[in-house]
Amino acid sequence: MSILRIEGIGGGYGSVTVLRDITLTLETGENLGLFGPNGHGKTTLLRMTSGLMRPSSGTIQFDGRDITGASPSKIVTSGLVHTQQGNTLFGDMGVAETLEMAAFTKRARAGATARLEKVYALFPRLAERRKQKTRTLSGGERQMLSIGSALMCAPRLLVLDEPTLGLSPRLKEELTEALIEISNSVPLMVVEQDVELLLAVTDRQVLVEHGEIVREITATNTPDHAEIVAMYFGAQA
Ligand SMILES: Nc1ncnc2c1ncn2[C@@H]1O[C@H](COP(=O)(O)OP(=O)(O)OP(=O)(O)O)[C@@H](O)[C@H]1O
Ligand SMILES: [Mg+2]
Repeated sequence: MSILRIEGIGGGYGSVTVLRDITLTLETGENLGLFGPNGHGKTTLLRMTSGLMRPSSGTIQFDGRDITGASPSKIVTSGLVHTQQGNTLFGDMGVAETLEMAAFTKRARAGATARLEKVYALFPRLAERRKQKTRTLSGGERQMLSIGSALMCAPRLLVLDEPTLGLSPRLKEELTEALIEISNSVPLMVVEQDVELLLAVTDRQVLVEHGEIVREITATNTPDHAEIVAMYFGAQA
């Protein structure tokens, strides 16, 4: 069964159309990667999926239920959790406090203590900084906290927008390992510019260009590395 079915969605900002006609299915147990040149609609697609933006056409089903036009809070409560691109954390809160507050839904509160321990096991850097204010964390640590917070919501699908943006190679490696581990229990939909991460973490990758899916990469048709890199620069345009 499909956990996510996006059918023919389109729309954008005011009179500017960003997404044209996106159809995408994520099967249960599958991890999907999205990539493509800057400004071609990847973040917009994630925003529409998690209810932060309303598509002007098409439908979105999550776990068999129509969520098109539903509020972000309703969507997050149903288990579709989106960590946004860039830093969206509250500076004056501590690490532990941020993680605890993230488990705000009824379903998430139930297992919050055990989940918190799992997050600390996954990201020992966060465990070491439990009491530290989030504004004093490094960029990489904040990214870990964003993902940790998303995990505290008990996601049934985790949507990540460029999780390794601006991270050092060392932190990228740490985060890749953590995402592989997360992907064993939670399906992922990941936008990412790092080819290695995308191929290591996801089973199938789609290229988004000019608001459309122009190519799909699976285990049986993986192009070579140079070809994938060319796609990031809009080679299909
Ligand atoms: N709030 C907004 N108002 C108007 N236009 C916007 C807004 N947000 C994004 N856009 C435009 O929509 C287009 C798609 O943006 P989007 O953020 O979806 O791209 P992206 O593929 O995620 O790019 P990147 O790889 O740089 O993150 C861009 O041309 C962008 O300028
Ligand atoms: Mg983006």
